[in-house]
Amino acid sequence: MTENELLKIEEIELKLFLQAIYLKYGYDFDNYTKKHIKRRIKRRMQLDNFSSISKITEKLLYSEEYFRKIILKDLSINTTEMFRYPEFFKMIREDIIPILRTYPSINIWHAGASTGEEIFSMAILLKEEGLLEKTNIYATDFNLNVLNSAKKGIYSMEKVKKWTKNYQEAGGKKSFAEYYIAKYDSVIFDSALLKNVTFLEHNLVEDGSFIEANLIICRNVFIYFNNQLQERILKLFLDSLTRGGFLGLGSKESIKYNESKEKFNEISFKNKIYQKKYLE
Ligand SMILES: C[S@@+](CC[C@H](N)C(=O)[O-])C[C@H]1O[C@@H](n2cnc3c(N)ncnc32)[C@H](O)[C@@H]1O
Repeated sequence: MTENELLKIEEIELKLFLQAIYLKYGYDFDNYTKKHIKRRIKRRMQLDNFSSISKITEKLLYSEEYFRKIILKDLSINTTEMFRYPEFFKMIREDIIPILRTYPSINIWHAGASTGEEIFSMAILLKEEGLLEKTNIYATDFNLNVLNSAKKGIYSMEKVKKWTKNYQEAGGKKSFAEYYIAKYDSVIFDSALLKNVTFLEHNLVEDGSFIEANLIICRNVFIYFNNQLQERILKLFLDSLTRGGFLGLGSKESIKYNESKEKFNEISFKNKIYQKKYLE
């Protein structure tokens, strides 16, 4: 068989793999970039000793556990850090918090919260601004494993140096070490920071709106969706935001090419912060 023919088979297998996931479990990865999916499947083939993509397809069709615990995790990208892109958090602190402060209560939705670093960052920021008590934070992700890990608040000590720098650059007011205790080579964050946090399994591609949010933060999730899926998610965010509510995306993301951009004002091009228009 020539290399070209092999490549063709791989394309067919990839389509069948995605279709099997969709038909059996309802997750639509069809719009994720093929490059990302191929990279992840190849890695899984090596790890589990599969000779073809089809072998993985067969396994996931017959084992829900394998799909949920392995494949779903493989396909999603969970990279995150505390006060990631510190300038973003600085702007939230300096420009958005003064507006939120005027409300009797605040709802913040972190969509694609991953292992919780973004949640702890926000909770620390709110605590320092005296707003933690009156804020409800909703941390959602479609991967339950990452949310369970977020609830524990245990991270590797190795990461703390970078996170401390991020915290300071984000305008942190105290010593970052006040928020965690060190144990062996881990750090455990203060669980009181999660007092008003609700963790929910939520799939941005399939599930609907569940709160009225004053601020939605969805960073480094959008980048893996095509325009059509982004549009669906933006509509979900529009349905979930109060008038004048804010949306924060990741630094490489933008709503520039989406129809729904008309419904938002751009607050910061650099920090990818948008505001739902009051009149629509
Ligand atoms: C790269 S992480 C970003 C984490 C964090 N927001 C940040 O910027 O540091 C992307 C997260 O989005 C989640 N995710 C991907 N697709 C999703 C979907 N359709 N619905 C909900 N969460 C999703 C992944 O499980 C992952 O935890």
